[in-house]
Order: sequence, then structure tokens, then C-alpha cells
Amino acid sequence: MMNIERKKKLGAYYTPSEVTDTLSNWAIRSGDDHILEPSFGGCNFLISALNRLREFESIKPEGNIYGFDIDPQAFNFVLKNKLTGGNFFLQDFLESSFEEHAFKVPVVLGNPPYLPIHKLDSSYKHKIYRKFEDFPHKIPKRSSLWIYFIAHSLQYLQNGGRMAWIVPDSISFTDYGKNFLRALSEQFIFVKLISINERFFQNAGTEVVEAKAGAGSATLSMAHAGARFSFSILEALNGKEGVVECGYIASQETEFKYFATPLLFSVCPESFSLFNL
Ligand SMILES: C[S@@+](CC[C@H](N)C(=O)[O-])C[C@H]1O[C@@H](n2cnc3c(N)ncnc32)[C@H](O)[C@@H]1O
Repeated sequence: MMNIERKKKLGAYYTPSEVTDTLSNWAIRSGDDHILEPSFGGCNFLISALNRLREFESIKPEGNIYGFDIDPQAFNFVLKNKLTGGNFFLQDFLESSFEEHAFKVPVVLGNPPYLPIHKLDSSYKHKIYRKFEDFPHKIPKRSSLWIYFIAHSLQYLQNGGRMAWIVPDSISFTDYGKNFLRALSEQFIFVKLISINERFFQNAGTEVVEAKAGAGSATLSMAHAGARFSFSILEALNGKEGVVECGYIASQETEFKYFATPLLFSVCPESFSLFNL
């Protein structure tokens, strides 16, 4: 077991096998396909990829797998799952290069670390900024680390290749996420985003951290919002007029089903239920 601090530092939240199976089955289309997992962690993507290759009766499928991770514990999972015939590198993926490793693959699969870039060591952070200076549409400095992972994996992807990534939903609503999607859609024939409502990862607060793009603590923000909301309800119940707070409610104003909307609180007749407020 990894302690929580270490887990947070590495952004280590492992993907369940139902998800890795689905993505591998979509992306891997032949027993000759080679697959890169840039931060393989608990190895579920690697296991799913191997199973998929075996379905195609691939001979020695382990040799078709490439993976990076900076966590030595990930290599214990390699041993435990008998994946030792693969090509695994205990190396920071962002510091790796095609020139050094000289392989290209038709398939990249992964769930990158979600780490706010401001928490990283300053010299490392600036090294990353410099490395991606020329990426199309520029990657804004407040982007989270996962964007750099996807961008970097492109140098290992063959022409006509496929990628399947788990990404946070901030890709669809932050300016840096939307900017990155535009850059990807210029390089791929199609880019599809599939939104999953179910929570697969027990890392509550990731969305808040992502949306704040490193500008503050998610826990404190949520606690502050909760306290403020509660005080406002109490003030309205005590008869104060004009109390307004934003709430995340069903809405038809935009393409999104739910939207943070200003709500005017007031004491309502007894015949109204609380949700009619
Ligand atoms: C969100 S977890 C996902 C693990 C695995 N891809 C999965 O889907 O279960 C992120 C992984 O990234 C690894 N990691 C963090 N920083 C890294 C880096 N700079 N280079 C390579 N791996 C890194 C962590 O050790 C962790 O295993």
C-alpha cells in the first residue's frame, strides 16, 4: 500500500481494469500492435493490452509493450503480474526522448499523473516549459502535468496511430484544456471525448484543483464554499432579503445539463418543499 502523501506526490491513482480493458480493446487492432503506457503504475493498462494481444494470438506479446514510471513500486507490480518480458523504464517520461529510446508505436494508452505544475520543483517546471515551447497552440503555463504527458507521447506515436487517455473533465471547460483539444484535433483525424459520470478515482477535489490551475488548495476552497453557503441559508431563514449564492443545478441555459447558477434565497411558504427554494 502507498501512503496518501506519496500517492498525491506522484499523482498515483490507478485505473480499474474494466476501463483499461475497454480502452485497450478499442485501440489495439492487431497482434502486431506495439503499445506505450507512459506512466504505467498499477499495470492494469499493460495487463489489458497483453490480454488483447493474446486474443489476436500474438507470439510473445510482452515484447510489444513499452512503459515508463518513476515509482519503483510500479516495478513490483510488473513482477507480481509476470510482465517481465516487456520494455520498462524507471525514468521520468517527460525527460525521455525518442532519440534515446528509438521506438515508435501505433498505440498509446494511459492515465497520466494529475499534478498541479506549481507544486513541482522550480527548475524542473522551467525545464518542462522550455521543452514544450514550440508545441502548436502553446501550452499555457498554468496547465496541469497531464497535458504535457499527452503532448510528449506524440513523439513516440507512429503516423496513423491511436491514443486513448483518461483525462480530467477540466479538458472540456478550462481555457488550457480547450486549447489543447484544438491542438490535438489538428493532428488526428478524429478526437473523441467520452464523459463518464461514475467516479472511478477516490481523489475528491481533483476537479477543483484542476479548475483553479494551481491557484490554491481544493480542501480549503470546498470548506470555504460549504461554510459560506450554510451561513447564507441561515441568514435567509432569519429573514434577510437578497441573499444570493451560486448552486450547481439542472439548467437549460447552456449545452451543459447542470450549471453553477446564482440562486436567490428567501423563506418560502410552508407548502413549498426545500427544493423549491
Ligand atoms: C494516475 S496514475 C496512473 C497509473 C496508470 N497509468 C493507471 O492508469 O493505472 C499516474 C502514474 O504516473 C506516475 N508518474 C508520476 N510522475 C511521472 C513521471 N514524471 N514519469 C513517469 N511516470 C510518472 C506515477 O508513479 C503513477 O504511477
